[in-house]
Amino acid sequence: MPVADDFEALLESPSEDGYKRHVERLRSEIHDLRREIARRAPESSSPKPRTHLVIGDSHSDPDVPNDRYVWLGKLVREVRPDVVVDIGDWADMGSLSSYDKGKRSFEGRRYHKDVDHAIKAREVFHRELRGLRYKPRLIHTRGNHEHRIDKATDEQPALDGLISTDDLKVKDFGWEEHPFMVPAFADGIAYCHYFASGVMSRPIGGMHLASALLRLGFMSCVQGHSHTYDHAERTRVDGSKVLGLSVGCYFGHYMSWAGSQANAMYYRGIVVIREVESGYGQVEKISYETIRRKHG
Ligand SMILES: [Fe+2]
Ligand SMILES: [Fe+2]
Repeated sequence: MPVADDFEALLESPSEDGYKRHVERLRSEIHDLRREIARRAPESSSPKPRTHLVIGDSHSDPDVPNDRYVWLGKLVREVRPDVVVDIGDWADMGSLSSYDKGKRSFEGRRYHKDVDHAIKAREVFHRELRGLRYKPRLIHTRGNHEHRIDKATDEQPALDGLISTDDLKVKDFGWEEHPFMVPAFADGIAYCHYFASGVMSRPIGGMHLASALLRLGFMSCVQGHSHTYDHAERTRVDGSKVLGLSVGCYFGHYMSWAGSQANAMYYRGIVVIREVESGYGQVEKISYETIRRKHG
């Protein structure tokens, strides 16, 4: 009997048991109705997890061919990241180095050669992205090597107006450009060439770099600069997770100024963070050798 008819019949011969049975029936009907509404509701509209591809310090240097940037473009085509982060030190800018100025290793360095080579690296990278059916977000966080340009104009005001970081044409290639030490944020992750350890703005470093990033940043932080790899994860009391990550570098050559022990410590390769959602994702390393073998 339909519920309404059941109720009419109850009104004609009311009884306590009859009312109780009717209330039970109403409860059961409401329960079934709720289940049906839930079943017909559209799928949850939570955003699709995203993929970030992070390029560690790549140090484009006129003494070293730019082939790795061609391979990098091919890798981006393959991975199809939503976000590509160039973490800085894309341009080595050896001509503005104060470290080995006046030494034999400095011979032949020229500002325009450095700049042209770094632009060429972006050209060959972007050439590989031609015809890509979507546009990834491109983020460049300026490194201390690009920042040498600003430093040079600060220290020698006569250069003001003659050289600038605009010479590197980063924006012209469609990259968001974030000044040195200014983090960029994507899907809840903070990206910066390096993060400051304190008020003196010295880089966070040491054996436990990744956990220090979490301790000092209070959120997921990803950086370059050290050329080493380190990864730490922690869980907040609400169950959400955060990661600290130092992504290593993306070049194959020997960094003579760093010495053999430091060169041996470098992680050479690319880092991909998959399933990024609310500042957390699954970290994957792709070594320089794997990239070279596959795309070189
Ligand atoms: Fe670097
Ligand atoms: Fe750096």
